[in-house]
Order: sequence, then structure tokens, then C-alpha cells
Amino acid sequence: MTIAQCLSRAATIAAASILLAAGAQAKDFKIAVGDGAGGTQEALGLAFIEALEENTGGAHSGKLFLNGQLGSEQDTVNDAAIGTLDFSILAINNITPFSPSVGTMTLPYVILSLEDAVTLTQGPIGEELKENTIRDAGVRIIGWAYSGFRVLTNSARPVETVEDLEGLVIRVPRNEIMIATYKAWGVNPTPMAWSETFAGLQQKVVDGQDNPYITVYAMKFDEVQDYVTNLRYIFSIEPLIVSEAVFQDMSEEDQQAVLAAGEAATKASEEFLRAQEETIKQELVSRGMEITDPANDEQEFIDLATEAVWPQFYDSIGGVEKLNAALTALGRDPVE
Ligand code: MLT
Repeated sequence: MTIAQCLSRAATIAAASILLAAGAQAKDFKIAVGDGAGGTQEALGLAFIEALEENTGGAHSGKLFLNGQLGSEQDTVNDAAIGTLDFSILAINNITPFSPSVGTMTLPYVILSLEDAVTLTQGPIGEELKENTIRDAGVRIIGWAYSGFRVLTNSARPVETVEDLEGLVIRVPRNEIMIATYKAWGVNPTPMAWSETFAGLQQKVVDGQDNPYITVYAMKFDEVQDYVTNLRYIFSIEPLIVSEAVFQDMSEEDQQAVLAAGEAATKASEEFLRAQEETIKQELVSRGMEITDPANDEQEFIDLATEAVWPQFYDSIGGVEKLNAALTALGRDPVE
């Protein structure tokens, strides 16, 4: 150990002793994680724990419960709301049913890049959505994982056009926007909890689903899915939430430590996606997945989804002006 490392370790131990001597209780927070190991959710969680330990001088830590061990992603929102769970990392589409304004970030083809996702989540729109989820769902978003576009996978055949989807049974989360999007593409999708999706694909209750490459890899979907279509309809954003009841029970210092750890973890997640996405995509190809690009630059998917789906959800996201604020923040034209 270098002298600098010794000094930093001593400072950490001293800070922890002061905190605990001041009456703070050491906490080992429970953090639910929907996905398996190797994905952005785990990367966000590990970075959060590391920063939390550092910020509290080792007084507080956390433990990740991967693979939906603590329940489906939507169940973890309920558990955090009543304070029986501390933290959860989950896809934003699984918060939308509890706080519909978050749907602005799951409307198809609004977020068109990682940069767009960062702009929306880390700007005023992200701040407003954080306030809304505290009010509507009793959970506070303190960090964001960025996981890439939700590509379509299936076990039946390559899909290149909207027509190719006909007859496929596609699993979607219980999310009205995603259900409406598939309906606009002519498919009646099957809503299914995330924690049941691998079994559903394996037992061929459903033929396919959509999620980012990194999630497909973390969930080992390549074992039960052969075909990928490079759709870009939703860029997956996966918040780290803390129970508002648990947060309000913390000392001011602990709250600041938690918020700062969430910010550090968000930065780490962005770096993780940039460093890993392409490698993971290639790994999935080497495991036998066949990747197809949608025909005509996805134009038919885009037209059907934006024309039919956006107007259906203006009311639930708080009015068309909320969508227009997002489009303007991204440098795009507002809708009429
Ligand atoms: C879902 O499809 O339910 C989620 O996007 C899964 C996830 O959190 O990765």
C-alpha cells in the first residue's frame, strides 16, 4: 500500500468513526436490481455502492439483489413507496405506470441517442420528472443508467419490416405506451413482468421481446432468442430510485452522501455504455444471434409509431407542451 493509500484509508476510517460516534447507525441498504450480472444496472449499482462507502467514510454500504430476487421491477416501486425496500434499479418504463409524466421518456422515437438521453435526464426536464415521481410514486430518482436502444429479439425469423412482425407474439412490459406502439405496428403484444420474461421466452409462451443489447446479454437471452432487429424506438433509461420514506428518515449528511453517490454512479453508467455496448453486441453475434437492420432506415416503424402513439399520450404526460419541451431541448421541431 502506498503512503497516499494509507492516508486515504485512515481518513475514511476516521470519518466513519466520527459519523458513527455522532449517533448515526451503520446501514447496509438493500438495492433491488431487475437485470442479471454484466449489465448497466449492475454497473450503476456497484458504482453507487463504491461512492456511498467513500462519501460516508465506510459507515454505510449497500448490497445488490440481482435478477429480480426482490420481485418484479414494478413490485419494487410499490415496496419502495411503502418503505419496505431501500433502493431499486429498474427500467423507466416500469415506473411510468406509477408516474405517467415519465412517459415523455418512453414515447417512441423521442430520444434518438445517448446524448439525447443525457440532455433530458440531467436537465430541467429530468428535474421535473424527479419531482413528479416523488409526488406520484413515493420514490426519488437519484441516478440514471443509460442502456442503449431497445432492439427487438425473437426466436422465429428475421424481422426487417412492419409486415414481418405479423403473427409474432411479443412480450412487452406493462406499459401502455409500449403496448400502443406495437398495436400501431399491427401486433397485439403480451404484457408480462420482467422477472417472468426469460421463462416466457424459453417456454415459447412468447416469441420475442425488446431490450438493449447489454440487457439481452445480462439476461442471457441469446440462449433462447436467435434474431435481433436493430430498432431504435426507445432508448432505455434505467433510474436508481430510493424510497422517499427511507430518504426522509436519513440525516442531512446521509442524504447528501446518497445524492452525490447517485451522481457519481450516473457518470460511471454513461462510461460503461460507451465502453461496452459494441463489444457486447459482437459477443452476441459470436454466440449465434443474427442481426437485421430495419428496412428503409426504419421509416415505416417511425411513421406509424409517432403518428398513432404520440397523440394518445399527450394527456397522461401532462399535455403536448411536455413533449414539445423535450423536443425543443433536443433541438427538434415541436409538434403542432
Ligand atoms: C423491461 O423490459 O421490463 C425492462 O426494460 C427490463 C430491464 O429493466 O432491463
